[in-house]
Amino acid sequence: NAVIGSVRTVIGWVPAGWLPGGSPDPLIERRAAIGRQASRLDGPLKVTGEARFAAEVAVDNLSYAALVHSPITRGRIMRLDTDAADAAPGVILVVTHRNMPRLGTLALIGMSDMSAIGNSDLPILQDAQVHYNGQVVAAVIAETQEQADHAVSLIMIDYTAEPAKTLFEEAKATARTPASVLIEKNHVTVGNAERELSRSAHIVDNVYRTPPHNHNAIELHTVTAMWEGDGLLVHDTTQMVAPSATALAKLFGLKREQVRVLSPFVGGGFGGKGMWDHQIVAVAVARMVGRPVRLTLSREGVYRIIGGRTPSEQRVAIGADAAGRFTALIHSGYSVMPPYGACPEQYTLGSRAIYDAKSFEFLQRHVDLDIVPNTFMRAPGEAIGTFAVESAVDEMAHAMGVDPIDMRMANIAERHPVSGAPFSQHALKQAFTDGAERFGWNRRVAEPGSRREGEWRIGIGCAAGSFPYARMPGANVRITLHGDGSATIACSAQEMGMGTATVQVQHAADRLGLPLEAIRFELGDSDLPASPMAGGSSQTASVAGAIIAAAEKLTGEMLRLAGNASPVAGLRAGEVRLTDGGIASIADPSRHDSFESILARAARDDMTVTAAGSMPLEMFKFAMHSTSAVFCELRVSDVTGEVRVDRLLGSFDCGTILNPKTAASQFRGGMIMGLGLALTEETLFDGRSGRIMNASLADYHIPTHLDVPQIDVMWTDIPDPRSPLGARGIGEIGITGVGAAVANAVFNATGKRVRDLPITLDKLL
Ligand code: MOS
Repeated sequence: NAVIGSVRTVIGWVPAGWLPGGSPDPLIERRAAIGRQASRLDGPLKVTGEARFAAEVAVDNLSYAALVHSPITRGRIMRLDTDAADAAPGVILVVTHRNMPRLGTLALIGMSDMSAIGNSDLPILQDAQVHYNGQVVAAVIAETQEQADHAVSLIMIDYTAEPAKTLFEEAKATARTPASVLIEKNHVTVGNAERELSRSAHIVDNVYRTPPHNHNAIELHTVTAMWEGDGLLVHDTTQMVAPSATALAKLFGLKREQVRVLSPFVGGGFGGKGMWDHQIVAVAVARMVGRPVRLTLSREGVYRIIGGRTPSEQRVAIGADAAGRFTALIHSGYSVMPPYGACPEQYTLGSRAIYDAKSFEFLQRHVDLDIVPNTFMRAPGEAIGTFAVESAVDEMAHAMGVDPIDMRMANIAERHPVSGAPFSQHALKQAFTDGAERFGWNRRVAEPGSRREGEWRIGIGCAAGSFPYARMPGANVRITLHGDGSATIACSAQEMGMGTATVQVQHAADRLGLPLEAIRFELGDSDLPASPMAGGSSQTASVAGAIIAAAEKLTGEMLRLAGNASPVAGLRAGEVRLTDGGIASIADPSRHDSFESILARAARDDMTVTAAGSMPLEMFKFAMHSTSAVFCELRVSDVTGEVRVDRLLGSFDCGTILNPKTAASQFRGGMIMGLGLALTEETLFDGRSGRIMNASLADYHIPTHLDVPQIDVMWTDIPDPRSPLGARGIGEIGITGVGAAVANAVFNATGKRVRDLPITLDKLL
């Protein structure tokens, strides 16, 4: 959502009053393929092993790279001895700051330039300076991966350490509050919240802590880079295909057309698959050795040089009057954002969008540490922000003896609480009502610690979630209608496993009036019409908006081509629709001309149009948020303190659900990640050395099958009249709210309020 922020910043000049009202997408009324169950089109390729991921692409004359990571946090390289590595079997080249070509630095995720995107603007192998523990200080290129891995162990480096900032607690003292970062102001006040709080009949005022998290997509970060003359070809696994090509072109002084990034399949992204040091090192050394280079990070390597989620310390204070209406909502705190990083963790944004209150104060402070820059991780901001605020709401409900759902119902806003903008569509209350009924909320016993089965105490809890809708500008799509009546749709969009092509084929089937089987969708190639990154839960709307624009253009072109002999002759674009494999009059559907016959009469093999989606003005006129109500039932052992989640239900209000099967998977995946956030995940730093201590999946605990219960999901399926297809994003709302739902259930089970994640068993004994 920081990315969304830069969109808002970039097009923030749009004068108010010029904004169109927007009208509902007419396709919502007559959708046929949209909203139907559909397996992923890429599913068979994946289960049969046909899908080639970036590390699996067969390349002739391939060489392999491995990296050396700094074991110190801050300091300088004083002595560097690569002789043994140079002489090791199979070694082609050892690269250090001494022989690395001089390069500029990447622009950070662009306020001014959305097309060039990096997570860090630190120099890469450019000098002897070390900025964080794990930084790349050398690379070896060899004939095999094993030879490269062995040779890096032979490189001898002496460092002089300098004092480093590694402790969050200490660095808080010098925290900064930039006036605004990307999306919204860091400090927002409505009324005098501290004064209102102090006068409130009921007050809850607590501090919540969340730990750093590390990215653990199952597919490791990997890149295969090769130069062909002056052209650069990169097989990557990335959430930003076209922006990566633009960034590499800038960095290596090439024209955009000289760079091609291919990434047809991505084995999980979650915000971590952007432009980092390894791609840049691989591209540079591939030119140095004159051969293709493959650089695959080890799992430990991902921990060392790919940023994760920042730790946070958040204060939430809520005041309520005697009737339980909020009088004050204060949400403030600290998160990490080093000056060379690009990700402000916007943990108060969710709190700005859910509840009404007489007064508000939101304040986000940035702490600077010498670490790999933190980055986007699924629902950055909201995932940890809702843990704090939704725990606090539960605490208020308990303090007042009110049912937690009743407390929320009394305070859920009808317009955006801070900006006053109308919601485009908003059925959070319905999501709560529907979810509570399906979950059996009425079986809840309000008194904590009342339910017991043997050693197990049983409890249930709930929480709300909110995540902003976004559609990005700069989405381009090409549609080609073929002579046989089929169509190919192409753009550089990203397929991370969520069904990008599948839902857009469903969309195009309805939009173009073709059967699903007649549509091919090409993506993951920067040579295709440029599409924005997959991030901020925005890709579906962004690509859909471009397909809408291209389909309109196609309608005009085909009408023109149909000519005077056509049954639709004389009709204008607004008087026809694409249906049944051709163009038909809306007023008289019997007037129909097929694409095949139009192209045949014109002696054309095909018709191609390219179009860009409109500016996403709906985001500025309306408050647009996917929302959720999350319910959890769990057991806590009196003997061991372990938490076992027995049931989890997510009730979502995200506009039209385009594909129930892929949507359910996205929701469930997000909720499983939420269980990790609630119960197990924590990146552990050694405060003395600034080094991550648990850099492996053996030591960093993500939920396993045994930790994941049956997860039930449901949705309102109410179309949003302001978005393409009536859909809002679903990629990040799933994780949002889960942390608090679990913590609130733990409180209901045990009477213990855990305010620092993860809720490990030591905190419950
Ligand atoms: Mo997401 S954190 O925008 O991949």
